[in-house]
Amino acid sequence: MKYEELLQTAESLLNDQPTEISLLANASAFLNEVLSEMNWIGFYIYDGIVLNVGPFQGRAACATIPLGKGVCGESALQNKTMYVDDVLNYNNHIACDANSRSEVVVPMYVNNTLYGVLDIDSPIFKRFDQALIAFLEDFTQILIKQLTFMTV
Ligand code: SME
Repeated sequence: MKYEELLQTAESLLNDQPTEISLLANASAFLNEVLSEMNWIGFYIYDGIVLNVGPFQGRAACATIPLGKGVCGESALQNKTMYVDDVLNYNNHIACDANSRSEVVVPMYVNNTLYGVLDIDSPIFKRFDQALIAFLEDFTQILIKQLTFMTV
């Protein structure tokens, strides 16, 4: 399926989820179903001090990440999508799953406040191209729109 169609499917699937956990759990399951060659897909949620692991698909991961630490902490702090095409050669990478080789983290700011990040790891070097990264940013916007209503 093309990214545009996947976004439309995601819009209808993720509309009207009853809780934030339901929304993020189904979002990680959806991405895991439609993306190939990924080993970790999920969320870290900001509690006002650190990032804590949220709903995800993959192996058990680091529970807590300080702001600025790892690719997740860096993305959250800078409010910037981070793409690392070779995590073995990136100093500020936290290796939760030893199989990871490339990674994308998309920050999630809701009502101008840090909410968390979407983190996706692949066991393949340079797995993410610009079209896939743009898709993940658009997908995250669908979640942010839902969270805007849920977190007021
Ligand atoms: N690699 C991430 C840590 C989270 S795991 O990949 C699930 C990082 O460097 O922030």
